Amino acid sequence: MTSDSGVTHNPSRSLRDWQYALRDQLRALSDQPEQETRWLLAAALGLDGAALLRDALMPISAEEEARITVLLTQRLAGVPLAYCLGEWSFYGLDLCVAPAVLIPRPDTETLVTLALEGLAENDAVRVLDLGTGSGAIALAIAQARPLAEVWAVERSPAALQVARANGALLAPQVHWLEGDWYAPLDSALRFNRIVANPPYLADNDSHLPDLRHEPWEALVAGPSGLECLERIIAGAYERLSLQGVLLLEHGPDQGKAVRGLLNNAGFGAVQTCRDLAGRERVSSGIRN
Ligand SMILES: C[S@@+](CC[C@H](N)C(=O)[O-])C[C@H]1O[C@@H](n2cnc3c(N)ncnc32)[C@H](O)[C@@H]1O
Repeated sequence: MTSDSGVTHNPSRSLRDWQYALRDQLRALSDQPEQETRWLLAAALGLDGAALLRDALMPISAEEEARITVLLTQRLAGVPLAYCLGEWSFYGLDLCVAPAVLIPRPDTETLVTLALEGLAENDAVRVLDLGTGSGAIALAIAQARPLAEVWAVERSPAALQVARANGALLAPQVHWLEGDWYAPLDSALRFNRIVANPPYLADNDSHLPDLRHEPWEALVAGPSGLECLERIIAGAYERLSLQGVLLLEHGPDQGKAVRGLLNNAGFGAVQTCRDLAGRERVSSGIRN
């Protein structure tokens, strides 16, 4: 039988045959081909890991083969695994992701952990996540602190759609707003925490070719890379309540510049924390 893709379907090829075939092809680009094979097959066939092992001899239909082929072709073309799967794990949450949003990174879990410090579980605090993308930070905080009033702002309508969909499943209490940093917020709102992982690459950053599948506007801040951080810091002081904390993720070489911006804006207790790889990653300051 020949499928729509023009590939001849061999009905005697089992799930295990496909496992071997994918693993061999994925070796060319992945350092964990077995794991990626399991994830891609699970996504294409709607099976969990246990079924992949248990039903290894099951035949694969022409429709299933077509779905596997689409995912494999994307992956071999360099599409990030998260976009192939349509979901990604962040801070213990399974988030839907799409090419409209940045793929949430483990580095950003450092920001979430720091933002949660000092927020007791039963504190009714207000938290703002600027540039929410998939909603990763806002949702991780909302899940960890169910009494917190969490607000999230995003300029990209397509990204905000992904965030809202994640929110509907994970934390329906989050308030989602579309717009430019603080602009869509009621000017009377004051926050105990403002957090952001804004675009912080310069427009000539050497990493950009490797990141070509992710949205440019989620990555690039402008000629210096500091433009978004500057705007967020400039507007934060008046939006924070007394003793409120601003926490910003940034590039490993931007710590000194961000501390300077925070000090100039009047923040106290300015400091930078390192990520799990030991690189300067999150700078923060307290509104006195
Ligand atoms: C680096 S991504 C971070 C996404 C998400 N917070 C995360 O950590 O995975 C930055 C996000 O900021 C958004 N953004 C860029 N400029 C913005 C602006 N002026 N106002 C609001 N959001 C903006 C981008 O669309 C993107 O979703």
